Amino acid sequence: MTEIERPGAQQWVPEGADIPALREAATACRGCELWEPASQVVFSAGPPSASIVMVGEQPGDQEDRRGQPFVGPAGTLLVQAIRDAGIDPASVYRTNAVKHFRFELRGARRLHKTPETVHITACRPWLHAELQDLAPQIVVALGATAGRSLFGRPVRIGAERGRVLEGAIPDSTARSLLTAHPSSVLRMQRDPGYDAAYESLVTDLRTAAAVVG
Ligand code: URA
Ligand code: SF4
Repeated sequence: MTEIERPGAQQWVPEGADIPALREAATACRGCELWEPASQVVFSAGPPSASIVMVGEQPGDQEDRRGQPFVGPAGTLLVQAIRDAGIDPASVYRTNAVKHFRFELRGARRLHKTPETVHITACRPWLHAELQDLAPQIVVALGATAGRSLFGRPVRIGAERGRVLEGAIPDSTARSLLTAHPSSVLRMQRDPGYDAAYESLVTDLRTAAAVVG
């Protein structure tokens, strides 16, 4: 596909818009092909005045049906981890690097498919515009897709997680922190390493919360 056929979200992003205006504008986005099989765009949730912003990968099956981020199983785990880190989940602005659900049909089931770099790049103007309007003290990247979108480069969770970074997000003065995606913790549910993986997520979120004080 050429660049013209796959233009990215930029032309749908109103300049200088606030979060409600961005949310409304995103319903018209055709910046990549993911809008078509999805039910709806899933923009974000939580207060635009939030000190903590959390960025996930993309909406999942339930998020796509309900139009809200982090309302499926991974979201439930994340909300618990946020609470265990001493943060009020309602105080956090939650969004995703990619705003339409990418999936593969297996019979009647829609199986999550990880977005590719081309989707992350196409959708980045929305996340960029959100960060221009928000004034968070810290942005938490949940997993490699969010990290790639926010930092503009490939990231390695194992090597880079849990550290408060300054100036890592181009065009933003907010500090940031990379951690695991809640889905990666959820997938370990029957593994002996589950408790440690969950605790590591909570520890990282606590580190982020400490920045806010
Ligand atoms: N739900 C979301 O909205 N985003 C994720 O990254 C995972 C689950
Ligand atoms: Fe637009 Fe992002 Fe949806 Fe692609 S995934 S159509 S860039 S909102």
